[in-house]
Amino acid sequence: MTAAAANAGLRRVIFAAADSPRVRRLVGRYGMKLGAARFVAGETLDEAVPVLRRLNGQGLATNTTLLGEAVRDRAETERVVGEYIRILDRIGDEGLRCNIALKLTHLGLDIDEELALANLRRLVEHARTRGNFVRIDMEQAPYVDATLRTYRRLRADGLENVGTVLQAYLHRTERDLEELLPLRPNLRIVKGAYLEPPEVAMARKTDVDAAYARLVDRMLEARAFVAVATHDERLIARAVRAAPSRDAFQIQMLYGVRPQLQLDLARRGYDVLVATPFGPDWYPYLMRRLGERPANLLFLLRNVLRR
Ligand code: FDA
Repeated sequence: MTAAAANAGLRRVIFAAADSPRVRRLVGRYGMKLGAARFVAGETLDEAVPVLRRLNGQGLATNTTLLGEAVRDRAETERVVGEYIRILDRIGDEGLRCNIALKLTHLGLDIDEELALANLRRLVEHARTRGNFVRIDMEQAPYVDATLRTYRRLRADGLENVGTVLQAYLHRTERDLEELLPLRPNLRIVKGAYLEPPEVAMARKTDVDAAYARLVDRMLEARAFVAVATHDERLIARAVRAAPSRDAFQIQMLYGVRPQLQLDLARRGYDVLVATPFGPDWYPYLMRRLGERPANLLFLLRNVLRR
């Protein structure tokens, strides 16, 4: 068996295990102490703020996310909106170089698309009053249409301080990009973090990498600002070479993933943003980080053995 096939197998096992209530209970109870803190800047805003400040002090821009998704209760979405308003205000008051990224299912997309849109609109409007920006993360494939529709509706209402994400692994994405380009969109390009069936997503890493490079090239060629969100040095170097200038793109990475590379690039003068989430509902996020790199499981297990 090749290393790639073994990795893909392990990845499927991790995603399947993530759904098990026992695994969820166990990791939920001990995960933060055992290593989730590598990827998550704490469970509260008060814990996250010093982390954001430290990253800013190191020359890194940031965004933050209150972790959470798949909310099925209207009142809970109202609470989430209130939390994000508090986050935006705190960012402004503290003078942090930080914007926010959020998931539409955290704002009620599973309940009603109009509810998620109304909740998001409140946040984007509030962010505008504070000179801030909101990015809509991209979730599993069945949410892509609604996410792009929501993004377009906000843009049609004249809101410019909003962006979204395109996933290179989806067969549909190059077409989506062509349709979005006339808007001069602010897009983050990622490879894609979910386990998707072959009908909707490419399975081979080399195909995903090639699609990623084509998407970034196309955005640069169209003079659209592109957030190159990857830890893949080859793809970053490629974007750097293709970009007409340094302000045509931003390099984005995840908190806890390749921190030295983040610093090196920032020291070389590139605009680097570190996506730095926090919150008590970190379980699905951690599982996606393990799924991306099954070797991270060893990191967690080593911490178990050390205790
Ligand atoms: P790849 O997986 O090929 O990794 C390249 C190298 O980076 C690896 O060899 C390894 O060294 C390192 N690396 C990658 N992941 C690691 C990890 N978890 N732990 C340790 N090392 C790791 N996805 C999505 O579907 N919707 C979204 O909205 C977002 N948003 C988002 C924002 C930002 C800022 C980033 C950086 C990523 C996302 N993603 C995402 C996740 C994305 O789809 C993808 O799963 C990860 O970025 C991992 O893929 P890479 O591009 O890094 O390449």
